[in-house]
Amino acid sequence: MEIIRSVGNLADYVAKAKADHRSIGFVPTMGALHDGHISLVERAVRENDLAMVSVFVNPTQFNNPTDLATYPRKEEDDFRMLAEAGVKAVFAPTVDEMYPRGTAREHEYKLGSAAEVMEGKFRPGHFQGVAQVVHRLFELVRPDRAYFGEKDFQQIAVIRNMVESEHVDVEIVPCPIKRAADGLALSSRNALLSEDQRRRAPGIYEALSASVEYSRDHGVKATRDMVVDRINAIPEMEVEYFEIVDGRTLLPVEEWEESDFVVGCITVYNGCVRLIDNIRYR
Ligand code: PAF
Repeated sequence: MEIIRSVGNLADYVAKAKADHRSIGFVPTMGALHDGHISLVERAVRENDLAMVSVFVNPTQFNNPTDLATYPRKEEDDFRMLAEAGVKAVFAPTVDEMYPRGTAREHEYKLGSAAEVMEGKFRPGHFQGVAQVVHRLFELVRPDRAYFGEKDFQQIAVIRNMVESEHVDVEIVPCPIKRAADGLALSSRNALLSEDQRRRAPGIYEALSASVEYSRDHGVKATRDMVVDRINAIPEMEVEYFEIVDGRTLLPVEEWEESDFVVGCITVYNGCVRLIDNIRYR
């Protein structure tokens, strides 16, 4: 596996792959890889001539400096896992290499109403930062397909909007959430949980799963309240938001019948660690 650090070397690598008519499957990551990432990578390996991954903790998508400073970094382990999974090249640039003119945004992306709600409301500027880095990575890697985990359900909708408004020719491939045996959605942030917090963390998915059954004979609001109350009753846990939304527009629904694609998206503080998850109702 090639480890590429500079934009120039990446451009050469991609130009060669394009000249050889090899399809590129791309998985952008912020590192601290887990089995969820590896499931995306394995799919990229299977469905393309070559799979490329980026490992870059993007400062422009963090609106909280402590979150950026404490974000787990494990480059050596990441590279080993990627090589074992069959990745041909990993792009792991420095911040200066990615943003030679500095990290200030020079362009306002048109991300639609999907970027205004939930994460957009609680993390101002987050999706502009995600769009900025993913757009730059797409320009450099020129992938045929790009793979994203559905744990970040809203992020996929926002990236689709960016791809459309910037006319990027890439297929966005959503991949199912990977969970630990106890139901906790795999996330790099799980590494930051204390033993007690990790033991209680499956309570999030337990409440979401129970709410699917509950929703069969309760309305949207009652279902929403049930999830929030159940999770807030767990020590150290506090729901930041739980929205039941149309899976395409990401706007809240008030009745189940309003859409044939309804998803509940949740963010929970488990101590200081911010965890996200989602569940499909319809
Ligand atoms: O989902 C992530 O890990 C990040 O938001 C992404 C897509 C790699 C952009 O930095």
